[in-house]
Amino acid sequence: ILYIILGALVAYLMGSFITAIWYGRHYHNVDIRTCGSGNAGATNTFRVLGKKAGTIVMLIDIFKGWLATSLAVFLVYFDIIDKSQLDVYKLIYGLSAVAGHIFPVFERFKGGKGIATLLGMVCSIQFEAALVCLGVFLIVLITSKYVSLGSMISTLAFPLMIIFIPRFHTETPIIIVFGFAIFLMVVLTHKKNIKRLFLGEENKTYLIKKRSH
Ligand code: G3P
Repeated sequence: ILYIILGALVAYLMGSFITAIWYGRHYHNVDIRTCGSGNAGATNTFRVLGKKAGTIVMLIDIFKGWLATSLAVFLVYFDIIDKSQLDVYKLIYGLSAVAGHIFPVFERFKGGKGIATLLGMVCSIQFEAALVCLGVFLIVLITSKYVSLGSMISTLAFPLMIIFIPRFHTETPIIIVFGFAIFLMVVLTHKKNIKRLFLGEENKTYLIKKRSH
């Protein structure tokens, strides 16, 4: 049990490294939380600091989620848990990293919304499902122009896919419960976005450049 808790703590600390805040401070001398939407994530980094910065932040945050989640593999390797329990522990470690990203201990508990970190987590648990979620995200983003809507709908797609698509059926149904809980958490981290969506004031992101005539 000590190793399990230690692993979750390491995952939380990894999640607490908020790439957007580090990058903004280090390379642009700004606190990303005071610019754009105020969110310390890849989307806002794209918005405020440009494509290169956004891509770097996104990739590091995805990688961090993947790595923290994959720490659970060591529990199997050292015979601390059985292989059949791996996915559940991956979820616990992945969520610890996401919690770190949303409530980072080093940044007075004010971090991001956890979407890139979540994607990294799903990549580690079920890579194909992660690709489908990414596809759903891109479709919603391209058609609606709202990153936040894409984030929420693609998060909901994960448990739904596990239930309805035979290819993704799981031996550990608790993943579905976690999936819906994660969706609720994402709705909560997007409270301000939801309000802006209803008011028609949400930031639009054009992945495909608008044609100018
Ligand atoms: O990943 C966060 C995204 O869903 C929304 O970001 O900056 O538009 O609030 P933002």
